[in-house]
Amino acid sequence: MLYRAHVLVEVSSNSVPLGALQIKELFSAEIKRRGLSQEVQVLETGSLGSEIPSPFVVIYPDNVIYAPVHPQDVPRIVEEHLLKGRVVEELRFKTPSSGGVGELVSTFPLQKERRVVLRNSGFIDPNNIEDYIARDGYQALAKVLSSMKPLDVIEEVKASGLLGRGGAGFPTGLKWEFTYKAPGEEKFVVCNADEGEPGTFKDRLILEGDPHSIIEAMTIAGYAVGASKGYIYVRAEYPQSIAHLEKAINQAREYGLLGKDILGSGFSFDIKIRKGAGAYVCGEETALLNSIEGGRGEPRIKPPYPPQKGLWGKPTVINNVETLANIPPIILNGAKWFKNIGTPTCPGTKVFTLTGNIVNAGLIEVPMGITLRELIFEIGGGIPGGRGLKLVQTGGPSGGTMTPELLDVPMAFDTLPKYNSALGSGALTVIDDSHCIVDVVKSFAEFFLHESCGKCTPCRIGNKRIVEILENIERGKGTRESLVLLKALGENMKATAFCGLGQAAPNPLLRCLQVFEEEFAAHVEGKTCPVGVCKLEKKMVYAK
Ligand SMILES: Cc1cc2nc3c(=O)[nH]c(=O)nc-3n(C[C@H](O)[C@H](O)[C@H](O)COP(=O)(O)O)c2cc1C
Ligand code: SF4
Repeated sequence: MLYRAHVLVEVSSNSVPLGALQIKELFSAEIKRRGLSQEVQVLETGSLGSEIPSPFVVIYPDNVIYAPVHPQDVPRIVEEHLLKGRVVEELRFKTPSSGGVGELVSTFPLQKERRVVLRNSGFIDPNNIEDYIARDGYQALAKVLSSMKPLDVIEEVKASGLLGRGGAGFPTGLKWEFTYKAPGEEKFVVCNADEGEPGTFKDRLILEGDPHSIIEAMTIAGYAVGASKGYIYVRAEYPQSIAHLEKAINQAREYGLLGKDILGSGFSFDIKIRKGAGAYVCGEETALLNSIEGGRGEPRIKPPYPPQKGLWGKPTVINNVETLANIPPIILNGAKWFKNIGTPTCPGTKVFTLTGNIVNAGLIEVPMGITLRELIFEIGGGIPGGRGLKLVQTGGPSGGTMTPELLDVPMAFDTLPKYNSALGSGALTVIDDSHCIVDVVKSFAEFFLHESCGKCTPCRIGNKRIVEILENIERGKGTRESLVLLKALGENMKATAFCGLGQAAPNPLLRCLQVFEEEFAAHVEGKTCPVGVCKLEKKMVYAK
């Protein structure tokens, strides 16, 4: 049936608790009551990942966004907009950053935005495979199966220069090649959708808004490396992602795009979902494998790496959700197209999650190489209350720490390490100058203490001692020795912890000890907090 208008209701983890499903039902009922059911269709869509408050509704073909939509707004929007053709200006979403009107194309402050992995999120109904197909979905798979050999696919991915978006930035094509070359009859493809990094929700958004892109990418990966089974390891706290994935997998099977003899090519591949219980360490690839196998989520010794010895000891490709979402466009448009986005050594886009002390919190996909200044002050609208920037934690607690003098460094996997920092998962937590540095590093250390799996001593005990020393400093019991001890502990953990969690845990501490030396010194020598917020200062205030 041909409809004259479509109402896309955002149904995501953000919006469901705020009544999105009720809004959807109200629209359907009101449209029916007005006799418009033959003309207007109500659909679900994923989040746009921007500053748009949930739940929002997009009306096509007018491209108008209403946000946030409350139940009492629905009859007005239906009567005014859908019946009489008049946009309800009052309810229309206006961007705080640009002051622009709520049209999809002008919503982002964002000539800077470039959507590759979020190409479909917020634009299609994730529960409808035909929506995906209408936007070139499964074309890349068809191309691969009909005209490319596995090694051609690997070469294309290698030539694209795609670096894994899970945090480490390892070349994806190379990882696929290792798995292809590894001896073994049975191989696996695993999608890492654990997304445990605090402050990151990009993978969730991709899965909720565009699950078929991950199914298509995993199937392509399976063909390339010689695997016939795939697993998506997704945390159980993402019920919307799981629901959308389950539907998408079933639809893909019905359409012959998953399962036996895909598109009559003779190639078979199928996908199962495994739910993680939400332990941060289970995002580490070998702990994840243990977890899928039904064991404790503890990391394994490396090497051997998963491409040689992965799931049940068989060669396995593990890729992050965002990495995989890049695959279909690379296959369809070619490696050269992809290399033209981003920087020469780190091509493509990156989805950044902006959180903390920032005016426009949310998600944004931009070319690699963008600077923090652009991200925070142009796209993010700056720091609330005009406060100064103290630091930006990139890639969550285990990533890197960037300070104001580094605002113009291009953001990419290979540039940040030059400044002792890291891009990681793309989480950006902005911290303004109202925060005490001891408090900040203590909160990171507490996170690691909580998440340590306890397998090795440096991480199990090291994180505990770091938290204790920082607490002592805040109680006024710190000395110069405490700072020396913190540094030694941190360096020791980096060198001796068993897995990436313990090795990365001291990163923010070590960097902040260096950069905010004076503030730490004030705490241990002057027994005062220069910012006036940590326990130490409070104690002194009360003592006066
Ligand atoms: C403690 C820890 C947690 C991790 N969590 C995640 C995660 O949630 N998602 C993810 O894709 N990678 C995570 N990683 C990285 C994975 O081990 C792995 O490198 C990644 O999934 C590989 O995919 P990519 O090559 O596509 O980036 C984590 C690593 C460590 C050490
Ligand atoms: S470093 Fe921490 S998380 Fe990793 S194995 Fe050791 S205790 Fe477990």
